[in-house]
This record gives sequence, C-alpha cells and structure tokens, in this order.
Amino acid sequence: MANITIQNVHKAFGEVVVLEDFSAEFRDGEFVTLLGPSGCGKTTMLRMIAGFEKPTRGTIKIGDRVVTSPDTFVPPERRDIGMVFQSYAVWPHMTVYENVAYPLRIKRIDRDTIQQKVEAVLEIVHLAQYAKRIPSQLSGGQQQRVALARALVAEPQLLLLDEPLSNLDAKLRDSMRFEIKEIQKALGITVVFVTHDQIEAMTMSDRVVVIYKGIIQQVGKPSEIYRFPANQFVADFVGKINFLHAMIDGTKLLINGTDQSLAYRGPLSGSVVVGIRPENIRFDSKSNDLTGTLLSQFYLGDVNDCRIDIGGQVIRVIAEPSTFETHKEGDVVKLRVEEFTTFMDDSFDDHQKIIT
Ligand SMILES: Nc1ncnc2c1ncn2[C@@H]1O[C@H](COP(=O)(O)OP(=O)(O)OP(=O)(O)O)[C@@H](O)[C@H]1O
Ligand SMILES: [Mg+2]
Repeated sequence: MANITIQNVHKAFGEVVVLEDFSAEFRDGEFVTLLGPSGCGKTTMLRMIAGFEKPTRGTIKIGDRVVTSPDTFVPPERRDIGMVFQSYAVWPHMTVYENVAYPLRIKRIDRDTIQQKVEAVLEIVHLAQYAKRIPSQLSGGQQQRVALARALVAEPQLLLLDEPLSNLDAKLRDSMRFEIKEIQKALGITVVFVTHDQIEAMTMSDRVVVIYKGIIQQVGKPSEIYRFPANQFVADFVGKINFLHAMIDGTKLLINGTDQSLAYRGPLSGSVVVGIRPENIRFDSKSNDLTGTLLSQFYLGDVNDCRIDIGGQVIRVIAEPSTFETHKEGDVVKLRVEEFTTFMDDSFDDHQKIIT
C-alpha cells in the first residue's frame, strides 16, 4: 500500500516558516497534485515525503509505516520511492540506457529483463533512438525524460514528480502528460506531482492540493476546485475569473457602482466579492442579471473575447463567436450569469502583492 498520511507537518528554515500545519491524506493509487505559486513550499513538501528533508514537527506515514516522526526517520533509500527532481539529475558519465537501467541493476534483475524494461520505457518517453548517447549530448528536455524513465523503470509503488515536464515543448508535454497518466493507471501506483501550471494539475490529477504561502487552501477534484473555489486565491489561481465588488442586501447582491443585482442565497453578509468565470456569462437580451457597455471585442474563431464595463468595474466575457457580428463596441449589452461564487471581501490585496 502506498497511501500517504501527512499529519500536522511544520517546516521552518531558521526563522522562515515554509509550511504550516500541513495535514493531508493521499490514497493508494491516487494521482495527487500539489499546486501553488513559486515559493509556496511544494518542493519542500515533496522532499519531506521522500526523506531528503526533515520536518520541524509532524508525522509522515507511507502505507502503515511511519517514515518521519519526532522519534523515527527512515532514510530515502529505504522508502521505496521513485522521484524526479525539479533540478533533474542524470549521471553524466553513463549513457541514456545505463542511466535508465541503473535502478534495475542494483536490484540484481537479470540482463534480458533489464533490456526489455529499459527499451519499453525509453519508447514511452520517446528516447529509444538516444539510448547510446551520454547526457551532455542531449537537450534539457531530453535529459528530463531520462530522469523520468529512470524513475518509472523500477515501477515503484510511489512516484514523486517535481515539475517533471517543465523543460518540454507544448506538444511533447501534452504527450508526456498522457503517458504518465497511462502508466500510473496501468500500474496502479500513487503519484504525487508538483506543478505551478494549473492546466497540468487540472488535466492529470484525481485530486489537487492548492497551496499558498505554505498553507493548504483547498483539497479537491479538479472540477470542485474550479467550480467551488474555497477562497479568492484559489479562484484566481485556477483558471480565469472576474471579481465584482458587491454588497449583500437580504437576498440580493448589489453590484457596486450600479443599481443592478444578482439573486443571492447564502451565509455571507456585508461587503463581498462575486467571482464569475468568463465562460459563465452569456449575451442574452432577455436577461436582467447584468447590463454593461461593450468596451472591446476580439474575434478568436472559436470565441468572442469581450471586455464589458459594469458601472465602472470591467469584466471579461468569453462569448459565442456569432456575437462578434451582432454587437459592436459601445453597445449596451444584457448579460445572463450562469454560475458565480461569492467570497468575503478580505485578504486578497495581500495575495496580489505576492503574486506580482
Ligand atoms: N534549504 C533551504 N534553506 C532556506 N530556505 C529554503 C530552503 N529550501 C527552500 N527554502 C525556501 O522555502 C520556500 C519554499 O521553497 P520550495 O522550493 O518548497 O518552493 P516551491 O513551491 O517548490 O517553488 P517553485 O515553484 O519555485 O519550485 C522558499 O521561500 C524557499 O526560498
Ligand atoms: Mg519547487
């Protein structure tokens, strides 16, 4: 079993707190992604699971085995984990084939099996024709795939991947995402994947752990994170979203600077922020949801990408391409809002300072 239990893990480097009270449970066979902006603590968490870093406090279990606690520490080589580091390290003096074969050699697997497995995995990472080269004769993206092949070949129960696709071009990255996912499903292994790329997180994961400033913001399936973000940070970090400032008045959300409102049923009161995804707004002349002035529109073939002024607050609307013909800049347009989320109007300025 390769489920991972992380209990109240806290990590500080000197005075600097990097992770705070991190608790999570990753299931056996699950593909979990740690997602968050640069510096939020993703690599540090992964290194603690692998055993390359000790937490200041807290416990980590792999399966039923405590690997890290105040009085236990299992070294990395005894955790049965495959790992690809962010700064991938491949052995410079070995050929691609030897690099990938190495984990099997030390397990004393027979030559024929090694050859068969190495060839199969090199095929998967599209490096079969480079087997005889040494790393200095490879591009960064090719070296990254050698590191990935070396982690995959031993078929570990638990695979930790720290931005393993960061150096690949868009097409290769797409294909590798698919391959990693297929391998994970076929072998039923647990994967903890680290990225700051929300598309990568959304497309590959069973569940996503969104981290910001060393604190878990939300854990959920990609669709939950996208549709029901726990706070404004998550809403903004995952996908595109408009934020409209508003006031709650009973069952109404009064949009600031207008006499317009959206129907509201929920627990919040006072000053709030309404989050609306651009694709959840439709041009609809019969709707009374929102009215605004079309500031600009860009025909992109599959969509009409618009900016609309709602009483001084500008929102983005991803509309049907046909609306480009039926509307022009300066028009007053009526909009239907299909889905929105409401947040307390609090600490977001803090986040924007960090991100920019
Ligand atoms: N050995 C160390 N000593 C001191 N500070 C460290 C050390 N390792 C990491 N940090 C700090 O801890 C914080 C989190 O680093 P970490 O590498 O976990 O971030 P990350 O989320 O992986 O970022 P990125 O997306 O840029 O890789 C950073 O502020 C970093 O400077
Ligand atoms: Mg990192």
